Amino acid sequence: MARNKIQWRTPALVWTSSFLLFYIIFRSAMNSSSSSSSSTLGSGSVADRRSRLYDGMARDLDEHGAKFLEGGETSQSLSLSDLFELKDGSVTPVLRAANPPVRANVLYLDPKYSIPISQAVKEIFLPYFDGVIWFQNTSLYHFSMFHASHHLTPVIANDNEIEAEANAVKAVAETLCPLKIVLDRVVLTSTGVLLGCWQVISGADPVTIRAKLRNALPRAPEKQLARNLLIFYI
Ligand SMILES: *[C@@H]1O[C@H](CO)[C@@H](O)[C@H](O)[C@H]1NC(C)=O
Repeated sequence: MARNKIQWRTPALVWTSSFLLFYIIFRSAMNSSSSSSSSTLGSGSVADRRSRLYDGMARDLDEHGAKFLEGGETSQSLSLSDLFELKDGSVTPVLRAANPPVRANVLYLDPKYSIPISQAVKEIFLPYFDGVIWFQNTSLYHFSMFHASHHLTPVIANDNEIEAEANAVKAVAETLCPLKIVLDRVVLTSTGVLLGCWQVISGADPVTIRAKLRNALPRAPEKQLARNLLIFYI
């Protein structure tokens, strides 16, 4: 796939409070790739280390096989049939409410960029797998950066506390944008998730962004869902 240059001209760190488990399901489907790669932090520049991390993720399918074809389990013991169902011949996610709601900081990808990416993926896959792939809504493409609260370690907050968190995140975002990134490679994981893996050309690295968010959100769960600080994928 051609390299797509992407630039955010406006602060793009968006605060989302998701009431849907959908997001968690998506993470759980990706967990095997991030956990298997989280011990590969070595020496070299952040970009080199991230590149090696992506190498590991790219090997995942070869090493573990296409588990999704067998309806294999994800790391949270959810099988693919727990996550998706067939509706009118099309794969549809099974949505469940997250209780308590997740408070996630994500980098949002503008549809100006997400739509061409989605179209390219569709052109490549649909001739072979029509009806058996679920495509994420292009209005919702995002990079997961940092959780103020997640399903494994819920951090309950009232409206005022959430407002304070949002302001702290906003202050961080204002100093970190814009960010120029490039699509490094596309990886299909053994659990059947297609990931776009990115590198940073200029601007704050995700490692820095996460460190600043950690600082700004002292109550956030120690153990984050994106276990590898280098990782930067949609
Ligand atoms: C995609 O998400 C947007 C924003 O939530 C929504 O307005 C739109 O209806 C969704 N599109 C589809 C096809 O579900």
